[in-house]
Amino acid sequence: MKVLVSAASKHGSTAGIADVIGSALMTGGYEVSVMEPARVDDVDDFDAIIVGSAVYAGHWMKPAIELTERFAERFREKPVWLFSSGPIGDPPKPAEDPVDVVEVMKVTGARGHHLFAGKLDKAMLSFPERAIVGALRAPYGDFRDWDEIRNWANEIVVYLGEISAARR
Ligand SMILES: Cc1cc2nc3c(=O)[nH]c(=O)nc-3n(C[C@H](O)[C@H](O)[C@H](O)COP(=O)(O)O)c2cc1C
Repeated sequence: MKVLVSAASKHGSTAGIADVIGSALMTGGYEVSVMEPARVDDVDDFDAIIVGSAVYAGHWMKPAIELTERFAERFREKPVWLFSSGPIGDPPKPAEDPVDVVEVMKVTGARGHHLFAGKLDKAMLSFPERAIVGALRAPYGDFRDWDEIRNWANEIVVYLGEISAARR
């Protein structure tokens, strides 16, 4: 079984989450491709798909949304999961799902969505981004919870195992 993991990331922290999800799936025995959304030109080869995005101003990034729109029909034929990464702090805020998630769930027929905490690294941000972060008083730091991320990926490993057992 081949799995695609594709996440839109501006400053690399969501790409890091995609890598860890990909590694967990590989450990679970799957063939995995971790690819930026803009580089995905076909999804027919994949038996399952995981799409993620960093959250900016309450929204998914455009390349992730475009990926789900380009292959909407194909996505609906496969098991699909979504994740977002954004909330900052302890507890991570904002706790609400990005606004696009309801629509992307509908378009892709995704089986689930998970919101992970993100990372804010001052050195990576542009001046306008620093101004927004300052105005929101969001704390800098890496709030990604690797256990939570691996656990979520392992739940998908179990689910895919059940699907392939049912096909046999
Ligand atoms: C200008 C700016 C706006 C942001 N807006 C949101 C937001 O609306 N909701 C959220 O959960 N996180 C927000 N974040 C936090 C990012 O989603 C978080 O830093 C994420 O880990 C970035 O992922 P990336 O490194 O893959 O780009 C914002 C960050 C910046 C710099």
